[in-house]
Amino acid sequence: MVEALRDARVVVTGAGGGIGAALARAFADQGARVVVNDLDAEAAHKVADGIGAAVVAGDASGIVPAARTALGGRIDVFCANAGVGTGGGADADDAAWELAWDVNVMAHVRAARALLPEWLERGSGRFVSTVSAAGLLTMIGAAPYSVTKHGALAFAEWLSLTYRHRGIAVHAVCPQGVRTAMLDAAGAAGDLVLAPNAIEPEDVAKAVLDGIAAERFLILPHPEVAGYHAARAAEPERWLRGMNKLQRSYEDLRAKAGEDA
Ligand SMILES: NC(=O)c1ccc[n+]([C@@H]2O[C@H](COP(=O)([O-])OP(=O)(O)OC[C@H]3O[C@@H](n4cnc5c(N)ncnc54)[C@H](O)[C@@H]3O)[C@@H](O)[C@H]2O)c1
Repeated sequence: MVEALRDARVVVTGAGGGIGAALARAFADQGARVVVNDLDAEAAHKVADGIGAAVVAGDASGIVPAARTALGGRIDVFCANAGVGTGGGADADDAAWELAWDVNVMAHVRAARALLPEWLERGSGRFVSTVSAAGLLTMIGAAPYSVTKHGALAFAEWLSLTYRHRGIAVHAVCPQGVRTAMLDAAGAAGDLVLAPNAIEPEDVAKAVLDGIAAERFLILPHPEVAGYHAARAAEPERWLRGMNKLQRSYEDLRAKAGEDA
């Protein structure tokens, strides 16, 4: 059991399926009181019913007040997990970029804005951001996703370094492929980069519990990501050449599948 989570009051956004549902179940197993959020109310209820959790359905961006009420007046842990896997490049239209920015970054900012007064007054609070290895590295074929996940990581880092001496813990969860609906929708790039080493959502949830127990900011459910991250920082030209090789494999795959590269 993770001592920090016993009787904790926890919110998980985007918890109607995938990683969020696994997080909600893992927190409930630890004895936490959980609020399940999702845009898809039916999916949220299905997950919540199985673990005795409450539901606050709707866009993750504005749920803090309703979630706080559902949890009896306080939130100890907020998991900013809802995300959109927007693909495409510079050609993706503004609406796609704006959706990625809104869900993958601004929902985290808005949640933190609503949570910080309560947490700073109490001197405790925990913000768990489901980022992605794309926030540390980059995802082939998905510029809006890569850029906004870098943004989510930057915001989590900023929160951590600004408030750690005031009792606020922040975790950035950066998995590569995880077997969820998002991976199923990732197309050729997902098949090439994510699927071969994909893990289960429950593996991510376990890594999150371990990361919380160890009070670790960076949570890497695929430990090899640490090496890629270090190589990218140490030798950027070499890293970009390697990633470009992957891009060319992706173009070949798409050409074979009859898609435009
Ligand atoms: N699956 C992967 O390979 C992978 C890898 C790294 C990071 N991630 C990240 O993990 C998080 C969860 O993704 P997943 O793989 O479980 O995907 P998923 O598609 O299974 O689940 C995402 C859930 O978020 C909900 N959602 C989307 N927009 C929302 C919004 N505005 N408000 C509330 N709910 C919303 C969806 O309805 C869905 O139930 C995302 O942030 C994603 O970027 C996923």
